[in-house]
Amino acid sequence: MGTHELLLRAPDEATTKAIGAALAARLEPGDVVGLTGDLGAGKTRLVQGAAAALGVEDPVVSPTFMLVREYEGRVPVHHVDAYRLSGAAELEDLGLDEVFPADAVVFVEWSDRVEGALPDNWLELILHTRDDDLREITVAVHGNTWPDRLPAVASALARFAVPPTQAPSQEQPRDQPEGQAQEQTEGQAP
Ligand SMILES: Nc1ncnc2c1ncn2[C@@H]1O[C@H](COP(=O)(O)OP(=O)(O)OP(=O)(O)O)[C@@H](O)[C@H]1O
Ligand SMILES: [Mg+2]
Repeated sequence: MGTHELLLRAPDEATTKAIGAALAARLEPGDVVGLTGDLGAGKTRLVQGAAAALGVEDPVVSPTFMLVREYEGRVPVHHVDAYRLSGAAELEDLGLDEVFPADAVVFVEWSDRVEGALPDNWLELILHTRDDDLREITVAVHGNTWPDRLPAVASALARFAVPPTQAPSQEQPRDQPEGQAQEQTEGQAP
């Protein structure tokens, strides 16, 4: 794992949503979050948690038959599912200014399929389903703005981070939808 990455774990669906909610507390208009990884790993669940924390009250559903769904929260929230897209050009056809407006927070499932259409700066969440069903989530940065913001993200997500020596059976994080509890966590590496 590089210095610009975090490793988190989610033993259950509620924790995946709580990770989304905690991350959302650090997101700003114009931010783009790509979600990649295994089929059924929890990408949509994580977006649901984030959207709820961003004030979206409508149910966030998998955008199966729509490439982009737009929700009203405290900021506009866009949810893109690139699973069926042939590539970046198909997303570009929708108009990137509309998909990635400066005032919205945008989540892109299967962002690896449309990487060429993403802005320079984006945060990637890589979800992996382990054999025991636990989800491992790697947070990686793309572009030159996110490295400076990563400590704040790490702080918000600290309670989900994989401790070096913790056994899988030990106490698991509780669902904390507000995601504010550990914002002031100290001791983040630069
Ligand atoms: N730790 C976990 N985190 C998230 N989901 C989990 C977890 N454990 C089990 N699940 C289950 O896995 C499924 C994840 O579904 P979800 O639609 O969020 O995945 P996805 O990555 O968006 O799938 P797709 O690849 O089809 O887009 C749900 O049925 C959920 O209940
Ligand atoms: Mg999905």
